[in-house]
Amino acid sequence: MTRAAVVAAGPADIERLAEMQATCFREPWGAASIAKTLSLPGAFALLLRDTTPAGRISAGFVIIQVVADQADLLTLGVVPGLRRRGHAGRLLEGALIRAAGLGAKTVFLEVAEDNPAALELYRRAGFETMGRREGYYRDAEGRRIAAVTMRLAI
Ligand SMILES: CC(C)(COP(=O)(O)OP(=O)(O)OC[C@H]1O[C@@H](n2cnc3c(N)ncnc32)[C@H](O)[C@@H]1OP(=O)(O)O)[C@@H](O)C(=O)NCCC(=O)NCCS
Repeated sequence: MTRAAVVAAGPADIERLAEMQATCFREPWGAASIAKTLSLPGAFALLLRDTTPAGRISAGFVIIQVVADQADLLTLGVVPGLRRRGHAGRLLEGALIRAAGLGAKTVFLEVAEDNPAALELYRRAGFETMGRREGYYRDAEGRRIAAVTMRLAI
């Protein structure tokens, strides 16, 4: 994927969003749950999409919900073969710009404390740690993993 653009996801993208989410996370949400999430007030998804004439590949996605002046970053992922190319950074930037346009002044998220890639991505984007939620996630072996809660003023 040499030329790619961050674009708004629409109803036609739900299946692809579900595929990518299932590739990136251990617990699949499924298309119906993603569609329901995107029907919530202030919720939107962005995709990173190949813009070459032959291409309709999506490399990554982000889903955010904005309520009044606060936004929750619900999920973000880049498919495994296309990581470490700046795609997540671009998706995050696009999502923060759109969230600010919808009135968000602060963005919140939770990330597993055993996810160094995501923690570093968010730290580099300026997110600060607010606290921890013990046992918020489970890993592949069923062990409880704390969530780190983070926030960014935009
Ligand atoms: C976390 C994730 C989205 C990063 O996607 P990506 O496209 O590879 O990230 P980028 O290339 O934009 O990286 C931006 C910065 O994040 C940090 N980063 C990304 N992956 C990293 C890794 N594996 N280890 C350490 N730092 C990492 C680096 O600071 C990187 O900058 P650099 O490449 O200049 O060093 C991706 O690994 C992923 O989809 N993981 C599974 C899903 C997930 O955990 N999502 C986040 C929780 S909601």
